[in-house]
Amino acid sequence: MSERGSFGTKIGVILATAGSAVGLGNIWRFPYLTGQDGGAAFLLVYLVSILILGIPGMVAEFIVGRHGASNAARAYYQLGGRWWSLIGYMGAVTSMIILGFYAVVAGWCLQYLVVSLLGGIHGDPAYVAAYFKNFSSDPVKPLLWTVAFIVLTHLVVIRGVRKGIEKFSNMLMPTLFILLLIIVVASCLLPGAGKGIAFLFKPDFSKIDSNVLLDALGQSFFSLSLGTACLCTYASYFSRQTNLSQSALQIAGIDTFIAVLAGLMIFPAAFSVGVRPDSGPSLIFITLPNVFQQAFSPALGYIISVLFYALLALAALTSTISMHEIGTAMFYEELHISRKKGAIMETLVCVTIGVLCSLSCGAADISLFGKTFLECCDYLTSNILLPLGSFFTCILIGWVVPKRIVRDEFTNWGTVRGRFYAVWLFIIRFVSPVCILAVFLHQLGIL
Ligand code: PHE
Repeated sequence: MSERGSFGTKIGVILATAGSAVGLGNIWRFPYLTGQDGGAAFLLVYLVSILILGIPGMVAEFIVGRHGASNAARAYYQLGGRWWSLIGYMGAVTSMIILGFYAVVAGWCLQYLVVSLLGGIHGDPAYVAAYFKNFSSDPVKPLLWTVAFIVLTHLVVIRGVRKGIEKFSNMLMPTLFILLLIIVVASCLLPGAGKGIAFLFKPDFSKIDSNVLLDALGQSFFSLSLGTACLCTYASYFSRQTNLSQSALQIAGIDTFIAVLAGLMIFPAAFSVGVRPDSGPSLIFITLPNVFQQAFSPALGYIISVLFYALLALAALTSTISMHEIGTAMFYEELHISRKKGAIMETLVCVTIGVLCSLSCGAADISLFGKTFLECCDYLTSNILLPLGSFFTCILIGWVVPKRIVRDEFTNWGTVRGRFYAVWLFIIRFVSPVCILAVFLHQLGIL
């Protein structure tokens, strides 16, 4: 236990956890799903899901982690017994799968960063699309970037909690925010940007169907890093003074704000040059390079595209650090090995998954149910494993753990006012489990 460490400052807690939450989920996944699932209608369901399922769920996971002060499997074990440790293990496996495919997309960002620095991708829309297809289906290049990204993450994680995770997040998060704001302003000032803003904020309710519901639910969990034991692991480094509900609110607030900003960065620019935003995962790699060269002067386009891909890589790094930490903490504490060795094991597993995901994008035919292996990993984790993880955490906290423990953690042993305690508990016991189940059953066609 001597290697555990903790976060040093209150702002460190918020920035590191927000650093985990803010990532490709906000800037890659949120815009492409919003573009695909009907714009403002999706945003609306997403916001509701953050508010009534996401934030209460975060508090529940924080409670498990801070109470356990250990890796996720042991933390769940301490509160619920042997069977519940499976939820911690499931979280670790989920985060390994996410890290695998996430690193592929993060690797694409690195390639696009380098290409942007060297002068960008110039040509008509067909050329830009072909460039992405050729690059992502190359057997070597994207694979090397994927491995490089996981190794980069590894190097931060082995520095430990305070010197590694906290220090990097404190530096990266504010930089990220400033870069994002610059691009939003540039995008919203383009002629015809209004259509993109309307797409994001004027809902067409007829667009809401069971797919939109499940996508929004999955995306809200993915974006908050909920249901992977990530929040539980970070909360194990919180102090007794950390106000759990306030932290959850602040982190969810930052995360949602950044997602909306990402929307404001992409949709106005896309609509301004008449590009449809429904191209899916390739949105930011095909649509945006087009947008950058059509919408801005060459010099401005150069600066903006370099900033954009740098921003994405930074955001991805603070998230991959948190995913890596879940498995690392579990390996070294459960197997009684050094933190370094634990990190190496985690890296090896994630590199294997990452390599398969990368190859599945064209270099090799690795597909299931008509989806590439990468898309399968994305769907399986976001739309199934994360909601399941959160569902069981709610059951554990709402129904299994003695109320005294839950209340003590929520109110920091009576030192902060637990004004929302009753409402929160009601949500955790009834609303969250019922909503998650209902969305699942609806998707399966049973409800
Ligand atoms: N929340 C991160 C994002 O939005 C992704 C993530 C998921 C991080 C699960 C940790 C655990 O990009």
